[in-house]
Amino acid sequence: MSVNLYKRNFLTLKDYNKEEIMYLLELSSELKAKKKHGIFERNLNNKNIALIFEKNSTRTRCSFVVACNDEGAHPEFLSRSDIHLGGKEDTKDTARVLGRMFDGIEFRGYSQKTVETLAEYSGVPVWNGLTDEDHPTQVLADFLTIIENFGKLEGINLTYIGDGRNNMSNALMIGSAKCGLNYKVISPKELFPDEVLKAQCDEWAKESGGSITVSDSVDDVKGSDVIYTDVWVSMGEEDKKAERFALLSPYQVNSDLMEKTGTKTIFMHCLPAIKGAEVTEEVFESPASVVFDEAENRMHTIKAVMVATLSSK
Ligand code: CP
Ligand code: NVA
Repeated sequence: MSVNLYKRNFLTLKDYNKEEIMYLLELSSELKAKKKHGIFERNLNNKNIALIFEKNSTRTRCSFVVACNDEGAHPEFLSRSDIHLGGKEDTKDTARVLGRMFDGIEFRGYSQKTVETLAEYSGVPVWNGLTDEDHPTQVLADFLTIIENFGKLEGINLTYIGDGRNNMSNALMIGSAKCGLNYKVISPKELFPDEVLKAQCDEWAKESGGSITVSDSVDDVKGSDVIYTDVWVSMGEEDKKAERFALLSPYQVNSDLMEKTGTKTIFMHCLPAIKGAEVTEEVFESPASVVFDEAENRMHTIKAVMVATLSSK
């Protein structure tokens, strides 16, 4: 494949085409297989990686740290309370300082604008570890997991049920549109996806042969290969808890809903999960659930993003 992602940022899948996404997924599989066989190539030897976290994280933080260690890089964790970013110091100044010292920067936080400013001013690759709007590294892990289960992405019926306008739904919609999946959002009308983003995704889906549909009826899960859900209240929206639970209770993923698909369906969730809310314990623990494969794949895919953008591989 003639894909070269050296020095590219990874801020959103909007910036990536299908060939580039598939390249990252193939590299993830290769690095995963090598690790299972005890082969470590140290593709990031002597690199220094800044990991900025304004919001909490288990999977994303640990994925970056383990991937750095496996590839010979040094990760430095910088929480909101450790550095001046966004407080005493302009984001663009922090970006220029970190860019003089580090080879790559991961950012998890609130505003997409912050990750864009870090990318614009640091001069080194910047990776989005989740913002209010997007979560592109999660989608790579999800797509790798779908390929491991179905052998392909094209034509897969991926149904997301829950908060249809959050970062996870946005990111899955963009990735599906680029890679030819049939993406369906099922949510109450109040939480339907942003219309501008949906229109943009419709255009990409036309090119890839995929489709984007939106519905407020849980009966529309029929034919889903994948049922995907996420928390009803994302980080930073804690004051909306009562309103969200009232709106989303009819959209819980439970055994009745899984049966409605009428086909062999896997259950996916980016985690962390609130069992008893968006998903029942029964579905979460069922053989259909691939959530821990998905969590493991965060590490292999994040490793691939760093290797592809920081080394000549
Ligand atoms: N899925 C995910 O991003 O998990 P963390 O919030 O634990 O990083
Ligand atoms: N939508 C969730 C995703 C967590 C990985 C949040 O932003 O909190």
